[in-house]
Amino acid sequence: MFVVFEGIDGSGKTTLSKLLVEELNKKGLTAVWTKEPFDNQIREVILSKNLDPWSEVFLFLSDRREHVLKVIKPALEKDYIVVCDRYYYSTLAYQGFGKGLNLQKLEKLNNLATEGLEPDIVFILDIDPQKALKRINKTRGEKTKFEKLQFLQKVREGFLNLAKEKENILILNAEEELTKLLSTVLLHILVKLNSAH
Ligand code: TYD
Repeated sequence: MFVVFEGIDGSGKTTLSKLLVEELNKKGLTAVWTKEPFDNQIREVILSKNLDPWSEVFLFLSDRREHVLKVIKPALEKDYIVVCDRYYYSTLAYQGFGKGLNLQKLEKLNNLATEGLEPDIVFILDIDPQKALKRINKTRGEKTKFEKLQFLQKVREGFLNLAKEKENILILNAEEELTKLLSTVLLHILVKLNSAH
């Protein structure tokens, strides 16, 4: 089973997705945690350079393709539960809705990069960007080039729009207590796993 977490920076995806993997492992299920950008060197180039938006997309896409071919697909073939922090929805939300690049083109390119690999379930952690930025200030200090209020407002809207179009996407209120979020997410996954067997 392939599970994806999405949301703007500071929405708490990483904490929740890692906790989920721990819980699944405790239940005797083999779950692995992974993230995008996958390759730290590519991430570094994207974040440190002032790139043309399409150049940025191509870097995210080559990172994604390597991730899908070398990590995600092999794990899914072993029947592992793969929990991924960000996937192609981030490109649609950040580079599409955020930077205004053509969504249809982005969808096609993503399809090529991932060979059409779709997650079974996507959780979007929704939060007011102002609150998310406050969380980032508290925990991480330094902000990256994507972490600006107006930009994140567009990205948030982007994620909410995507959720309207695709049926495997669930929106969660990222301001709820972590334990509550965790039990909601666990429940959805266990129900899905049961219905698949
Ligand atoms: P990272 O520090 O790994 O972010 P986070 O911990 O918040 O997930 O940096 C990734 C940044 O890149 C983040 O701001 C989101 C952005 N991003 C895109 O703009 N497009 C994409 O396709 C992906 C995967 C990430």
